[in-house]
Amino acid sequence: MTLFHGGDVLSASQQYDIPTDEWIDLSTGINPCAYPLKQTLRDIDLACFEKLPYLQPDFLESVESYYGSRHFLAVPGTQSAIQLIPASLNQAEPTIPVILPSLGYQEHEHAWRINSKHTYYDANDLDMATTAIDAQLAQNPSQHLVVINPNNPTDQQFSVRQLQQWASMLKGGGHLVVDEAFIDSKPECSLLSQPLANNVIVLRSFGKFFGLAGIRVGFVFANQDILNFLGIRIGPWSINGPAQAIVTRACHDIEWQLSAREKIGQAAQLSQLLFSNLFSRLSVKKVAHSCLFSSYWLENKTAQSLFEFFACRGLLIRCLPIDNNETIVRIGCVNPESKQEIASLKGILRQAEKVFGEHDQIKRVELKNLRKQNA
Ligand SMILES: Cc1ncc(COP(=O)(O)O)c(C=O)c1O
Repeated sequence: MTLFHGGDVLSASQQYDIPTDEWIDLSTGINPCAYPLKQTLRDIDLACFEKLPYLQPDFLESVESYYGSRHFLAVPGTQSAIQLIPASLNQAEPTIPVILPSLGYQEHEHAWRINSKHTYYDANDLDMATTAIDAQLAQNPSQHLVVINPNNPTDQQFSVRQLQQWASMLKGGGHLVVDEAFIDSKPECSLLSQPLANNVIVLRSFGKFFGLAGIRVGFVFANQDILNFLGIRIGPWSINGPAQAIVTRACHDIEWQLSAREKIGQAAQLSQLLFSNLFSRLSVKKVAHSCLFSSYWLENKTAQSLFEFFACRGLLIRCLPIDNNETIVRIGCVNPESKQEIASLKGILRQAEKVFGEHDQIKRVELKNLRKQNA
């Protein structure tokens, strides 16, 4: 089964017959103000396009200096590791069960469900999740635990202390897997800010914070046995030469990182403000604002109508259905530096505010017309 992800402007463009370069893509949680590449590409040693990309010492050193640990494996996006982690942790028979978040980046659940007994904790409510995980581990400490910290899309976030405590409760081969794809805005909340226990795996996605998802780089921090298992299966030359050059410079560029944290905060505030009028008219059941996206819990029909309304106008958002009633509408950050994008977005939102009235009183006539246009 293939899972659908955000950022698929090509499919949207084919479905809605709008050229790819006319879309505003707010369907991902990728920093819209990416690490600037002009200078890096000018300085790049062109030989790196020709030679096999063995991991260069300056690449390894810059990664260690940014993440604060040298016990890592560089992978072509953490996605490649997510697919292999269940096999790496369940080499012995009988396999031990896994506790998963009820919501979150679906590839974790997808990878674990294939061969592992699994249960869920509530990825919406921090207290309920904490109580449930505590109880599960007290009952059977021989389990794996997967945490997406902060959670995409719910923004649920556990403290470093709490995660360390669970890691220490796990016994009999149980591991804690923490996906920190969205932690870079608050590095002090990363498990890497402390020495890592032997049964903990931390995943760090390079693409989100640096806004460079296209170069496919990520890092796994874990004990050497796990890194060896993953490394053999991922194979040699996993990070191409130009990508190594870009990561090396970006990881050393502390000035950019500091200003990026500020800019991401501004982008998030602007995005929330732009959508606030519209969402104040809808009966939103819950809202969660993370650094690189906002999530709004809506009734299914409203979420689908909203998606359709935006897509017909070249605005791509992400709908994540929870059950038969509710869908999370996730909206990424606008680029505050793109005046044109903001102007177009404001125009689309003004139209939406007219169509989507107070408390989901969507004007039926207009929606009928909308459906006719798309038929
Ligand atoms: C929570 C989370 N983890 C991991 C990934 C995979 O990212 P990448 O393979 O680019 O590191 C994503 C992608 O959207 C994500 O949202």
